Amino acid sequence: MPSLAVAKAANAKFSPAYLPVAVFVGGTSGIGQSIAEVFARYTKGNAHIIICGQNRTKGESIIAKFPKPTVSSPLGAPLHEFVQCDATLMKNVGVTTSDLLARLPKLNFLVLSQDALNFQGRDETEEGIAKMMALKYYSRFKFINDLLPLLQKAADAGEDAKAMSVLAAGRGSKIDLDDLGLKNSYGFINATLTSPTYTDCTVEEFGARNPSIAFTHIAPGFVRTPSFSRLHWSMALLSPILMGIMYPFSVSSDDCAEYMLYALLNGDKGAFRKDNHAENVGEKGYYVTDEARKAVWEHTLALTKA
Ligand SMILES: *[C@@H]1O[C@H](CO)[C@@H](O)[C@H](O)[C@H]1NC(C)=O
Ligand SMILES: *[C@@H]1O[C@H](CO)[C@@H](O)[C@H](O)[C@H]1NC(C)=O
Repeated sequence: MPSLAVAKAANAKFSPAYLPVAVFVGGTSGIGQSIAEVFARYTKGNAHIIICGQNRTKGESIIAKFPKPTVSSPLGAPLHEFVQCDATLMKNVGVTTSDLLARLPKLNFLVLSQDALNFQGRDETEEGIAKMMALKYYSRFKFINDLLPLLQKAADAGEDAKAMSVLAAGRGSKIDLDDLGLKNSYGFINATLTSPTYTDCTVEEFGARNPSIAFTHIAPGFVRTPSFSRLHWSMALLSPILMGIMYPFSVSSDDCAEYMLYALLNGDKGAFRKDNHAENVGEKGYYVTDEARKAVWEHTLALTKA
């Protein structure tokens, strides 16, 4: 496994001959924000960086701290921008991806980390999708699937073309093909364990269908982010205690982001499952079968069509 120093040194060497275009969905908080920030730092701001999330104030304040670019956009637009999207609804994702498809010449990096812990049962959206799974899985699939033409343009130009879902590679469970979407077996744990396997299935399928693009499902590990304390007042109270217990096993969001960026920048073409140190996880927690891959792909295409 690469040490943090090795990952950092490799990231610092990233200096593409082209102006990279990168989209960070969920980049307004947590690990997504940290990855966007390290990306901005290592490119010295000289990249078209789009942070996509729900909270414009937050997104714009993150962008305001990016290093100022010394080059200008070929599109004549600001190089760092926030795009608002509530990704719990596939129709919203569709609006955002249509906008990006219409105006971006290509896309080099697509990082997906939108998430929300939700203990309120299935909490179904008007589109019939459990809200937590909409963020963890369905919207991420739709962003990748819709933006494939832009990734392909980057690949065709010989540039990086990489999509990465920051979720929980190696930490999934077996899935029930008779209840895809968990209409009948929804529970917080089932949703948490099913989403990684769905992700494995579709990342593999994307890789097979688009051999010149890299698709990675990665696990960030236990990162010190504020997500616990936002859950519930009891968590806010417990959070310092939990943090005290977990601290030795956890990693700062910045250090984790170095590994995530390392995995993103150094990924080969094809489909990958990686851990919190950017290493392949092998067969750990792997429940993809040919049948599952096909079933999950078709289920997801149908559910995310908007
Ligand atoms: C959006 O982010 C700002 C700045 O971090 C915060 O003050 C505000 O409460 C957030 N709004 C919502 C609706 O979460
Ligand atoms: C979770 O899934 C398993 C297997 O599909 C099922 O037996 C169980 O009842 C589910 N849990 C809930 C809360 O529905």
